Amino acid sequence: MDKKRIALSFSNAANTYDQHAQLQRDVCDQLLNQFDLKEPQSILDIGCGTGFGVKQLNAKFKTQKNVDIHAIDLAPKMVEYAKQHAPFAKYQCADAENLPFVDNQFDLIISSLALQWLEDIDQVLSEISRCLKKEGQAFIATLGEKTLFELKQAWQSVDKNTHVNVFHNIQMWRKSALNLGLKLEIKEEQRVLQYKTVIDLAKDLKGIGAHNVNQKKNTGLTGKSKFKDMQKSYELFRKNNTLPATYQVIYLRITAL
Ligand SMILES: C[S@@+](CC[C@H](N)C(=O)[O-])C[C@H]1O[C@@H](n2cnc3c(N)ncnc32)[C@H](O)[C@@H]1O
Repeated sequence: MDKKRIALSFSNAANTYDQHAQLQRDVCDQLLNQFDLKEPQSILDIGCGTGFGVKQLNAKFKTQKNVDIHAIDLAPKMVEYAKQHAPFAKYQCADAENLPFVDNQFDLIISSLALQWLEDIDQVLSEISRCLKKEGQAFIATLGEKTLFELKQAWQSVDKNTHVNVFHNIQMWRKSALNLGLKLEIKEEQRVLQYKTVIDLAKDLKGIGAHNVNQKKNTGLTGKSKFKDMQKSYELFRKNNTLPATYQVIYLRITAL
C-alpha cells in the first residue's frame, strides 16, 4: 500500500470523517470498554484520526493526576483536526511503523481501526512491543480479510483488479505476536451495516477516507460502466430491501512480557 496515498486520502476526509464514522465510533467504544487497567500513567493512541479515542481516554482518566496521553496519525490534516477538536493529547504526525517514542514509554497503547492500513504487521507489532513498558498492554481493533466481502465479490464479477483493500487475517497477527514473544488474546466479531444503495456505501467509504488505495483510479466512461456492472452484481445480496456490508472486526489484546 502506498503511504502517501493513504495519508492524502485520510487528510482529505478530515472534515467529513465524523459524519460517516458510526461503525468506527462503535468499535472504538467497544475497544475502550475492554481494558481493566486501573491507572495507566502514559497512554498512546496510534492512528488517532479526528481524536475520538483521545476524547474517550480523557473522559475515562481525567480524574487521575499526571496522566500523559500521546496520539499519532499519518495524515497531517487528521492531526490538525484532532488538535482542535480533542485537545487532550500531545499529537504528532507519524507512522505507526516508526513510532517517535523511546523504549518502554507506555503503560497502555490503543489503536482503533487504523492498523489494517499497514502492510508490515511484524514491524508495527515490534514497534508497539518496543514502546510498551514491561507488563504494559496494547488494545487494538483492526479489520480482517472477510471485511466488505460483498463488495469484493461484486467487483470480482466485473474485472480482476483489486477494488477493495486487502486486510490481514487472524493467523498473520497470531504468527507475528508469537515471533515477537508477545502474549496475545484475540476476539472477533462481525458487524453488518445496511445500505439502501451501493452509492450510499461508497459515500461512507469516501467520507471516512477509506476507499481503495491499492490501485489507480479508473475514471471516465469505462470506470462508470464498470461501476454500474458492479452495482448490478451487488444487488444479488439485497435482503429485506437493504444491501448488507459486512465488517470482520478483530480485537487484539497484547501484553508485553
Ligand atoms: C479509519 S481511521 C480511524 C481513526 C480513529 N482511530 C477512530 O477510531 O476514529 C484510520 C486512521 O489511521 C491512520 N493511519 C493509516 N495508516 C497509518 C500509519 N501507517 N500510521 C499512523 N496512522 C495511520 C489514517 O490516517 C486514519 O486517520
